[in-house]
Amino acid sequence: MIRLALPKGRSLGVARAALERSGLDLAGLDADPRRLSHRLPGAALEVLLLKDRDLPLYVERGVADCGVVGRDVLDEVDGDLLVPLELAEGRCRLSLIAPAGRPAPRPGEQARIATKYPKSAARYLDTQAWSAELIELSGSIELAPLLGLADFAIDIVQTGATLAAHGLVEIERVREIAPCLVVHRAAWQTLRAEIGELVARLEAAGVAA
Ligand code: PRP
Repeated sequence: MIRLALPKGRSLGVARAALERSGLDLAGLDADPRRLSHRLPGAALEVLLLKDRDLPLYVERGVADCGVVGRDVLDEVDGDLLVPLELAEGRCRLSLIAPAGRPAPRPGEQARIATKYPKSAARYLDTQAWSAELIELSGSIELAPLLGLADFAIDIVQTGATLAAHGLVEIERVREIAPCLVVHRAAWQTLRAEIGELVARLEAAGVAA
């Protein structure tokens, strides 16, 4: 049995749909919506439901054998995880955003950027001719440049609906983001057959990128 970590919240739907399309029966997840771990013998899985920010740590420490988590979250941690595939659905991007009409940062400008992705933001700034103070927030990032807490934000854009609802625009795409299958390095060896079958199923179902 593989112990698989999945993200709670809206990322769960994408991960679950991909696994179900690969033929795994995950209906047991609905039996008790408050439970955070589910043994699913029919799918040979134990599923842990975790906050996506915590998920890489569970896999890196080997508490979970593998998991599904966004590249945006992986980029913020230092863990040593294998990433054998990305999912085709649920893709989005990390973008520099600002209120419509605000000019892009000029060379030499010192700006303020609100984000919950400080490492990705710092890597992006290293490539720019302008600099910024990073203001780390944990959510509702779009409000910061609207209300003057920051000049810009670096945040996830998927459909663009949240930007449109707030009169914000994308100035530049920073990074393409996809949900990733992550695997504990030792489990890749000790559960080679089981995890290999999971990867093969996802690839055969056409849900891998
Ligand atoms: C994410 C992101 C944007 C929104 C983008 O928010 O921070 O607010 O999704 O999606 P869209 O382009 O499809 O509108 P999330 O729901 O994860 O909440 P939070 O960042 O405020 O925690």
